[in-house]
Amino acid sequence: MEHLTELGALSDEEVRALLDLSLDRRAQLDRHEEIPPALQGRLQFNLFFEDSTRTNLSFEVAGKYLGAIVSVVPVVASSIHKGESQRDTIQTLCAQGADLIVLRSGESGAIGAALDAARDTGYGTSIVNAGEGAYGHPTQALLDAATLLHATGRRADEGLSGLTIAICGDIAHSRVAASGVPLFLRLGAEVRLVAPEELLPDKGRLPGASRTTDRAEGLSGADVVMALRVQKERMERDLYTGSADYHRDYGVTWDALAAAAPGALVMHPGPMNRDIEIASGVADDPDRSLILSQVRQGVATRIAVLETLKG
Ligand code: CP
Repeated sequence: MEHLTELGALSDEEVRALLDLSLDRRAQLDRHEEIPPALQGRLQFNLFFEDSTRTNLSFEVAGKYLGAIVSVVPVVASSIHKGESQRDTIQTLCAQGADLIVLRSGESGAIGAALDAARDTGYGTSIVNAGEGAYGHPTQALLDAATLLHATGRRADEGLSGLTIAICGDIAHSRVAASGVPLFLRLGAEVRLVAPEELLPDKGRLPGASRTTDRAEGLSGADVVMALRVQKERMERDLYTGSADYHRDYGVTWDALAAAAPGALVMHPGPMNRDIEIASGVADDPDRSLILSQVRQGVATRIAVLETLKG
């Protein structure tokens, strides 16, 4: 694996190896054990053209655990604001010796363009997709799958078979769903998409998952319910302006969870709009909510990705 641009480019064996390494690294972090410094002397730039808390910081600490020299590019104070292109910025970082560029962009196509820019320099820099428009977020999908393996006491070869995962919320604009749904299906889960019609993906996208606009039907008997953020920044017009109405009809609430399997687990990739797509009490429930476990698994997953690329 030279780059991580999308999970579809990885074999089943590569995906399983990343998930198992993610579980192992999490166990080591939990025991406060030292992570082997596989990236000692390597140079990692985090280049985030779009806001982030979890992904940016977890890639930063992951690189540091592995002994890399990590620099978070201060985009707002960079020459991008003098009109420098993303291609020139990428090539500048490659020429400065980047072994890895962890890139987030709001524009679909940005990762492919960055890959071309890096390859054209000939410096051997790896590109890691840290979220690309509504197109993909491969490390989020890996960490979500690893969180479920951890929660159910499984290893990657056991997959997610037997689990029904209901994804409820703004799926149309979600890069988390774009990467997560194919991975959950690949690991053997049943996946249901639950949203108002205007927030379901276009027909033909995310094949293999069932679709419904009926929250009770979608959550019925589900083992896992993943809430997704209403992404107003990606909507051409405000499709669902009434937050109270949205919460009543599509929020992951205790009432809604009554339809799910007893003890169903709850996920959210963050950041959350509390009491819009998820009830605060559900998000904070220590027995049902995996939200902080997802964050914790995120560090381990990014360690696994970085060391697999350059270790
Ligand atoms: N889930 C996720 O990508 O969160 P951030 O935008 O905070 O990185």
